[in-house]
Amino acid sequence: MTDLTTRRDDTLAAIAAADTADALEAVRVEAVGKQGWVSALLKTLGKMTPDERQEKAPAIQQTRTAVADAIAARKQAMNDAELDRKLATETLDLSLPSPALPRGTVHPVSQVMDELAEIFADLGFAVKTGPEVEDDWHNFTALNMDENHPARAMHDTFYFPDKDGEGRSMLLRTHTSPVQIRTMMDEGAPVRIIAPGRVYRSDSDATHTPMFHQVEGLVIDKDIHLGHLKWTLETVLKAFFQRDDIVLRLRPSYFPFTEPSVEVDVGFEVVKGRRILGGSGDAPGHAWMELLGSGMVNARVIAFAGLDPAEWQGFAFGVGVDRLAMLKYGMDDLRAFFDGDIRWLQHYGFSAYDQPTLSGGVGARA
Ligand code: DAH
Repeated sequence: MTDLTTRRDDTLAAIAAADTADALEAVRVEAVGKQGWVSALLKTLGKMTPDERQEKAPAIQQTRTAVADAIAARKQAMNDAELDRKLATETLDLSLPSPALPRGTVHPVSQVMDELAEIFADLGFAVKTGPEVEDDWHNFTALNMDENHPARAMHDTFYFPDKDGEGRSMLLRTHTSPVQIRTMMDEGAPVRIIAPGRVYRSDSDATHTPMFHQVEGLVIDKDIHLGHLKWTLETVLKAFFQRDDIVLRLRPSYFPFTEPSVEVDVGFEVVKGRRILGGSGDAPGHAWMELLGSGMVNARVIAFAGLDPAEWQGFAFGVGVDRLAMLKYGMDDLRAFFDGDIRWLQHYGFSAYDQPTLSGGVGARA
């Protein structure tokens, strides 16, 4: 047995002398690893007679326990030493800036809606929302588009298979105009609101996506006329584009829910391949571009919404938010708005801290 004692003492000495985790591991493998010498001795126990085993087993087991305990103790000592070393040498400099965390951006569509809400709020407009899953009465009928109205076909509507409890067809709203009806019915008159939100049409190419965004506007009061409409749009667009030279042209048009209806054009020129708004579209080098639809709210719509058109009248408008964002911030492909490409969002997005305010400048870039 002196053989065993010598080998054990050699192993314990090697453990004590191991000064790295690798060195310790090598000693461990050599002694108690699968092919280690202690493991080999343990295997011989199975082949011994009971008497022989009774005689030799305790010393072998004790050797195994002694080696295992010594390795665990050495490991612990190494860890403690390492911790002591770190505590002694590593310091934490609290004056250093913390590492930058990945930060998301505010989508240009959200930013533009916030900018418009801020500008309109200054003129006394509240923000209203309505459901995106709408019924055909609010989306069409109450807006003076009855069942057989040709304008219904123009909207490329997404319909749901089931009707609602009142037998109305359900659809994804094709415009924000139903919020006009809901607001008048819920709150009566006078009304001064904008309604930003998503709208849906079965349409898809470089300038059309099946989902896009509009802002609706509605003013209902007494003695409201087209002059109020023009002044409001001019004031808002000047604030939005941050240019005093925005010039609008009102052109006769047709919408079922307004009478008279006007298409609003804005003057622009092309500078370095980009459309820059400003100036009259009739000025040299300039042209007009169609910006939004509007008009005086049709008396039938006011009546559908439960108000007396002899007493109340007003104006309404609807404008594409995505278009406004493209014009203001210079993107040229609408589809990229909804691809979710993180590089596009980092480039065109806004800091969440850059809240649009009239005093701070709506839409100042981060
Ligand atoms: N709802 C129209 C559309 O989506 C836009 C529109 C035009 C809204 C004229 C209005 C309006 O409120 O007066 O095409």
